[in-house]
Amino acid sequence: MNILVIGSGGREHALVWKLAQSPQATRIWCAPGNAGIAAERLAANGALVECAPISAEDLPALLAFAAAKAIDLTVVGPDNPLALGIVDLFQTHGRRIWGVNQKAAQFESSKVFSQNFMEKHGIPTAAAGTFDDPVAAKRFAAKLGGRCVVKADGLALGKGVLMCENQAEAERAVDEIMVGRAFGAAGARTVIQEYLAGMEVSLHALCDGHTAKLFPTSQDHKRALDGDLGLNTGGMGTYSPTPFLTDAELAEVSRQILEPFMHGCVAEGIDYRGILFPGVMLTKAGPKVLEFNSRFGDPETQVYLTRLENDLVELLEASVSGTLGNLELKWRPQTAVCVVLASGGYPGNYAKGKVITGLAAADALPDTKVFHAGTTLQDGQMVTNGGRVLGVTALGNDLLAAQSAAYAAVEKIHFEGAQFRRDIAAKALPPQA
Ligand code: AMP
Ligand code: GLY
Repeated sequence: MNILVIGSGGREHALVWKLAQSPQATRIWCAPGNAGIAAERLAANGALVECAPISAEDLPALLAFAAAKAIDLTVVGPDNPLALGIVDLFQTHGRRIWGVNQKAAQFESSKVFSQNFMEKHGIPTAAAGTFDDPVAAKRFAAKLGGRCVVKADGLALGKGVLMCENQAEAERAVDEIMVGRAFGAAGARTVIQEYLAGMEVSLHALCDGHTAKLFPTSQDHKRALDGDLGLNTGGMGTYSPTPFLTDAELAEVSRQILEPFMHGCVAEGIDYRGILFPGVMLTKAGPKVLEFNSRFGDPETQVYLTRLENDLVELLEASVSGTLGNLELKWRPQTAVCVVLASGGYPGNYAKGKVITGLAAADALPDTKVFHAGTTLQDGQMVTNGGRVLGVTALGNDLLAAQSAAYAAVEKIHFEGAQFRRDIAAKALPPQA
């Protein structure tokens, strides 16, 4: 089977690595990919994965590439091509593709759409209002006492969410998003949610249009610095499972969130095939959905796929075909921890082209896998090429063992200015650990 993976981050490296283990995969391309992806080999025949220099958003070029290489299954990593309608385009041309279609991608591309859907279908979420008028938005923020979260409706590279402590901050946030258009057209409309306190977890479910198969829990660390300080990033590290929901509680979450979600989609003619990734706050009043993403999380994928025992080709095929009901997801009992190594200065300005050493020594450690995000080869040397550079991932028999193993691997890797959090998974461990 010829497979094309779209994207170039750590998530896509994890997808390629796992797909390459499938006996069904005989050739894999990745567009545009990265240097770590280009070093992966297929279990079936030892062939190297090939990277094609096509942007993840150049839909016509990707379609032409899929036709030229007789791709049997295209797998989409990032949200942008999904929101641009890559799945619809490929399907129109009779090409098999995994990921949500444009209508389903609205759950991520429009926070107003998601909020309205949750309220209509009884999915637990924050008390909220949706607005296209800044005056009404400010009035609503005042009703919440000013302590609220103001969110730009559209995709804003994860930056269009402003936390406000009081009414003055809320008014500034509304002005910035809706009047100043700090996030461009994404700010034409806003969602204002009550501020929820609690532990935040990532959920993922693989969906096939009517069945949703829930993954174990994971937790991301979005702030740049230890102790959840510093700026918001794409994600500085993850672990799975978390100790915050028992299996029984997770089943209850599935009943409260996934069941109404899938019923709502069917009722509204949304054919949801792909990943549903709700960001959930575990509040005193129960779990509440903060937002929906319509793709695998990054770096959640790195900890999920190192634990997944199933053949990923088989799972994604079943998601496309609507036959997930026949399959059972199987997970290694171990815990996985992923520590992201980022370029100095990330998420602000950072330099590229720094030589990376120690990768082979890190990868040689048992139960350890270094996923590449922003790397490239320059004159035969591996160098940094992005904000998030590597996702150092390790399995352990318990959380402490996995955490120690991940940091032992991190210690082997060096590049100038490397920046990482030293407290990934610490929230789930006793303070002295
Ligand atoms: P979102 O992109 O909507 O998930 O928001 C980004 C981050 O902002 C989330 O991961 C949370 O940490 C935080 N956040 C979003 N909504 C809320 C809320 N209603 N209450 C508290 N924190 C929130
Ligand atoms: N790790 C958060 C995200 O992928 O959105």
